[in-house]
Amino acid sequence: MSISIKSAEDIEGMRVACRLAAEVLDMIAPYIKAGITTEEIDRICHDFIVNEQHAIPAPLNYKGFPKSICTSVNHVICHGIPGPKKLKNGDIINVDITVIKDGFHGDTSKMFLVGQVKPYARQLVDVTREAMYLGIREVRPGAALNRIGAAIERHASKYNYSVVREFCGHGIGREFHEEPQVLHYFEPKLDIRLEAGMIFTIEPMINQGKRHIQMLSDGWTAVTKDHKLSAQWEHTVLVTPTGYEVLTLRQEEDFGRTELG
Ligand code: MF3
Ligand code: CO
Ligand code: CO
Repeated sequence: MSISIKSAEDIEGMRVACRLAAEVLDMIAPYIKAGITTEEIDRICHDFIVNEQHAIPAPLNYKGFPKSICTSVNHVICHGIPGPKKLKNGDIINVDITVIKDGFHGDTSKMFLVGQVKPYARQLVDVTREAMYLGIREVRPGAALNRIGAAIERHASKYNYSVVREFCGHGIGREFHEEPQVLHYFEPKLDIRLEAGMIFTIEPMINQGKRHIQMLSDGWTAVTKDHKLSAQWEHTVLVTPTGYEVLTLRQEEDFGRTELG
């Protein structure tokens, strides 16, 4: 029961895996349009990861997951399984990419807007991204782990949104899911301190309505019980001696690569 501190070599390996995961999101962006099916998105990502990146799509066969990426549309919270359904104008979709390169995992996801999206849906997407960034800004050595969730929950509450509790961020490295669990809400008992060399994801799922989830019979897909919208963004983050480094940062993000120098 302990959080691993990554060596300099591990960190270099994680930088590479995380950069590849981020590049998959950049690559797939122009394809996310009305009319494409989520299994076509899965196929394009799979082929890019395997044939161009010479990496492994971590979800494929992970605990029986049948596809290479997760696609979560509208009221789907997370772990949506790519399938034959076409995206339509007004949809919001999370694409979650995890690649394994030289034994290291890089994990990141973002929301895409399909065509003209209603203002309330766009706001949920924007606020969820802001909440993730506010969580990331809490990361520095000596900070309590639960400050991340506190910052995320505070931001979501301002808009009367709710934070999903059943799924959380996670340590990551040679394993897909390592300690610690990174909750996206404030848990007073979670007062362990961050140390330089820890690597974990921050991946808040925020609901437009109530926080409660319902699992579909496929055993993977989590949806909102009230069928209102849900959004999620995810980055893999390294604790540095002075703050943090977002290992899965994309070029489009003006958000700083490091905080506090
Ligand atoms: N990428 C997801 C995460 O952020 C996990 C997906 S597990 C899968 O932790 F099996 F559904 F792919
Ligand atoms: Co993750
Ligand atoms: Co992920």
